[in-house]
Amino acid sequence: MRYIITRKTQESEQQLQNLREPEPKGQCEAKGQGNQQHGPLLSSRKPHVSVLGHPGQGAATLYGGGAGTTDHFRGNTLHPPPPPKTAPATVKGSHWLQGRQVSLNYQRKGCHNRTMLTARACRHLPVRTLQLKDHAEHFRILKTLSMTLRRSYASEAEQGNKAVLVTGCDSGFGFTLAKHLHSKGFTVFAGCLFKDKGDAGVKELDNLKSDRLKTLQLNVVKQEEIEKAVEIIRENLQDPEKGLWGVVNNAGISTFGEVEFTSMETYKEVAEVNLWGTVRVTKACLPLIRRAKGRVVNISSMLGRMSNPARSPYCITKFGVEAFSDCLRYEMHPLGVKVSVVEPGNFIAATSLYSPEKIKAIGDKMWEQLTEEVKNDYGRKYFDEKIACMHTYCKSGSTDTSPVINDVTHALTASTPYTRYHPMDYYWWLRMQIMTHMPGAISDKIYIH
Ligand SMILES: NC(=O)c1ccc[n+]([C@@H]2O[C@H](COP(=O)([O-])OP(=O)(O)OC[C@H]3O[C@@H](n4cnc5c(N)ncnc54)[C@H](OP(=O)(O)O)[C@@H]3O)[C@@H](O)[C@H]2O)c1
Repeated sequence: MRYIITRKTQESEQQLQNLREPEPKGQCEAKGQGNQQHGPLLSSRKPHVSVLGHPGQGAATLYGGGAGTTDHFRGNTLHPPPPPKTAPATVKGSHWLQGRQVSLNYQRKGCHNRTMLTARACRHLPVRTLQLKDHAEHFRILKTLSMTLRRSYASEAEQGNKAVLVTGCDSGFGFTLAKHLHSKGFTVFAGCLFKDKGDAGVKELDNLKSDRLKTLQLNVVKQEEIEKAVEIIRENLQDPEKGLWGVVNNAGISTFGEVEFTSMETYKEVAEVNLWGTVRVTKACLPLIRRAKGRVVNISSMLGRMSNPARSPYCITKFGVEAFSDCLRYEMHPLGVKVSVVEPGNFIAATSLYSPEKIKAIGDKMWEQLTEEVKNDYGRKYFDEKIACMHTYCKSGSTDTSPVINDVTHALTASTPYTRYHPMDYYWWLRMQIMTHMPGAISDKIYIH
């Protein structure tokens, strides 16, 4: 009967540590003797759970494996207990090492677990003796890997020549982003809904009095305003033939309400800005973006990946933005244009997407427009509770927008931008993973019902 060591008690770990004297530097060598099946796994200096042992055959090897019988660091031989007659799945054993008792757990061979499978897979790997320089090599590989995985940004100098259009810069993410990108050296065209009305956000951006920050009147619902804005951009580019580096489709509005409470007019109104606005602006900018082999960054939402009750008018537009972005990404790939989606979580408290006044106005209008049948069936109490929920929601969320700003910046500057960015707190991140990866019956049970 063959067993593998599956777990050491804490006490045994300590005992083994005590038994092992520190190795002189430069002489640390873990020799994989026995059948030497484990190769790189043996690099650990601690007894490893994936080591095979043979309690029934009178020996277990801490660093060798298979038929070996010796702890190669110290030359200790282990003497596990004889196998029980009934051969249970796990056996506790104790061993005497240099006059001290060490406890080990064994798992019966055939009781497949990850440890066993790992060990078996490793049999097919080439094996050689590990030396101290291997540790240095592993460290070097890990360091290179971590540097590769770390977010890469283009240098400030490169960004200086690049021009970007951001929509919805009167407030919220757009406003902060325009200032941030400008501070990073970009030339920023900041599309504002109310430039012509001298909105506070527009004034603040204009007050920067920079050649590299130009506010534009841009209502993404109006095709003629979009065309005019693109014309201004073309005229103001250093070299129009080199194109426009990026467009950030940020402009958006939100609303709420159960399907039965939401008018068709509201569905269309939200889609006009969030979805069709994104499509319109992107189409108008693409000829310039293609010339630059630049970037399209679409601000979607976590609600573009998972839906929520009472948010259908908003969710369907953001799901649409996700689909549009995917199609565009596939089409643009051969042309060198990169398309990313940023899916922020809850930043309601930090932006103007909702306010108590907006919620009250939406609620009042909604109740007025309901049919008598719907009013009677749901009742005023239910309706008021929903409005109260929205008031609470509008005070929630993160007040720090920097995760969103950093993600958009990365999407515009990294040599390999991500397809999707998820600036959100852990609660929403986990919820989104569960909602998007688990069967609906399970995720509904956890979060919705
Ligand atoms: N805040 C969040 O928690 C959150 C979460 C996920 C996704 N998002 C998305 O992030 C984006 C920015 O929203 P935000 O949170 O920063 O809210 P915000 O402060 O309200 O910003 C939205 C901006 O879009 C502008 N806008 C509205 N309608 C427009 C139109 N027809 N044409 C051009 N601009 C228009 C707004 O102008 P006015 O200010 O003049 O109305 C405002 O400047 C939106 O796409 C939103 O869906 C936000």
